[in-house]
Amino acid sequence: MSKTNIYWENSLIKRQQREQLNRHKSVMLWFTGLSGSGKSTLAHAVEERLHHLGLRTFVLDGDNIRHGLCQDLGFSDQDRKENIRRIAEISKLMLEAGVITLAAFISPFRAERQFARNLVNPEDFIEIFCRCDITVCENRDVKGLYEQARQGKIANFTGISSPYEEPINPELILNTGQWSLDECVEKIIDVLRTRGFFLPIVDA
Ligand code: ADX
Repeated sequence: MSKTNIYWENSLIKRQQREQLNRHKSVMLWFTGLSGSGKSTLAHAVEERLHHLGLRTFVLDGDNIRHGLCQDLGFSDQDRKENIRRIAEISKLMLEAGVITLAAFISPFRAERQFARNLVNPEDFIEIFCRCDITVCENRDVKGLYEQARQGKIANFTGISSPYEEPINPELILNTGQWSLDECVEKIIDVLRTRGFFLPIVDA
C-alpha cells in the first residue's frame, strides 16, 4: 500500500507526559503459545493484579479480537500474519497511550513476533512464552477444538496441521503446563518489579 499524500500529524501530548499522568510506564507484554497453553488466563490474571495496584492496563485477546477487528481473517499463514500485524500496531498505539498492554495471541511465527518487537523500543517489549506440551493443551481442550482438529474438521490447527515456532530468546519462559497460575503471575510481576514498574514516576 502506498503512503503517497499521507502525512504524520504529531501529537501535542507525548507518551512520557501520559506516563507521568498515570504515574507509571507503559509496556507491551506479548504472550505466545499454543491454544490452551494458558495465555489468556494468565494475561487476565496479571491484568487483575496490576489493576488493583492502580496501573492502567488492557488485554488484547485472540478469540475476542477475531470477533471484531479481525473477523475477516481466518487461520491461513497469510491471515495469521495480518492478524498479528494489526494487533502489533494496535499494541503500539496503546503503548503510546500510556497503557500496559497484554497481547495474548498464539502468534505462531517468529517473523511476526519479531515484527511486533521491532515496532517499539527494546525495553518496551516483553515476550512471554507460555510453554506447554501439546498433549497437556489437548487434554485440557477447553474449547473442544483439538478434538475437532484431530477429526479433520478444523484445518490449519496450530500444533496439529499448522506449525508453532517456539521463541528462541524470549524475555520469559513460563511452564504453564506445570506451574500454577499464581506462580506464573508472580514471575511476570517480578520482571516488572525488576524493571521499576512499581516505582511511581515523580514529577520532574
Ligand atoms: S493466531 O495464530 O493468529 O495468533 P489467535 O491467537 O488470533 O491465532 O487465535 C487463536 C484462537 O482461535 C485459538 O485459541 C482458538 O480458540 C481459535 N482457533 C480457531 N481455529 C483455529 C486454528 N485453526 N488454529 C488455532 N486456533 C484456532
